[in-house]
Amino acid sequence: METNNELLEAIARRHSVRRYTDQPIDMDVVAKLNPIIDSCNRAGGLRIQLVLEDWRTFHSFFVHYGAFSGVRNYFAIVGKGEHLHERAGYYGERLVLECQRLGLNTCWAALTYSKKRSRNHINFGPDEKLVCVIAVGYGITQGEGHKVKTFEQVTRCPGEAPAWFRNGVQAALLAPTAINQQQFRFDLVGERQVRAVAKLGFYSKIDLGIVKLHFEIGAGKDNFTWV
Ligand SMILES: Cc1cc2nc3c(=O)[nH]c(=O)nc-3n(C[C@H](O)[C@H](O)[C@H](O)COP(=O)(O)O)c2cc1C
Repeated sequence: METNNELLEAIARRHSVRRYTDQPIDMDVVAKLNPIIDSCNRAGGLRIQLVLEDWRTFHSFFVHYGAFSGVRNYFAIVGKGEHLHERAGYYGERLVLECQRLGLNTCWAALTYSKKRSRNHINFGPDEKLVCVIAVGYGITQGEGHKVKTFEQVTRCPGEAPAWFRNGVQAALLAPTAINQQQFRFDLVGERQVRAVAKLGFYSKIDLGIVKLHFEIGAGKDNFTWV
């Protein structure tokens, strides 16, 4: 298991990458990812699957999906039940950060891929749904930083914010969100309690799970509890 510092480093280095080389993912990297996928699935009650060598989900003869090129591997985020989108975000991002550490690049995709084509490669249990996918592979570039909202725009806290809260927010502001909307807010309630709020926006419940993971890594899980 990696240290918190390694995860912070992965947060700082991660950017969405949409153009990939045709290098297949190394099998020893897949072997490292598999147990992490399993533990995310157990903890989150999900059925996340790593689909390898399916180039048709992001490309077809007729359609070019957004700015993507060379995508042939992706995580399919599948599950069911309450708070599915938030759990998908939290555990999907856990895998994104792990990929970053293992030298892979990623990009969340809720819209610009063919859901229909992906279905041939995914196993579903009863009532389970595909929430979205995450493209993964060796990027042609490492991507670029995104425009970041201010601390004041995404928080509510009475008085001076403690350092751990600021660090949590800073890590959350580096997180991927759908169309970089950053439609979330962290409220400091009481001395060591935090409420995370998803504001109105596309897929903002998936974003909520993602930014909660980043906040925990930035703030240190022992410093606060979610309310
Ligand atoms: C839930 C979610 C869905 C996304 N869907 C897409 C998508 O369909 N197509 C795409 O090109 N990027 C998609 N993205 C990537 C965002 O555009 C990207 O994370 C955001 O612009 C911030 O940039 P960064 O990830 O490089 O920091 C999605 C991100 C999230 C979190």
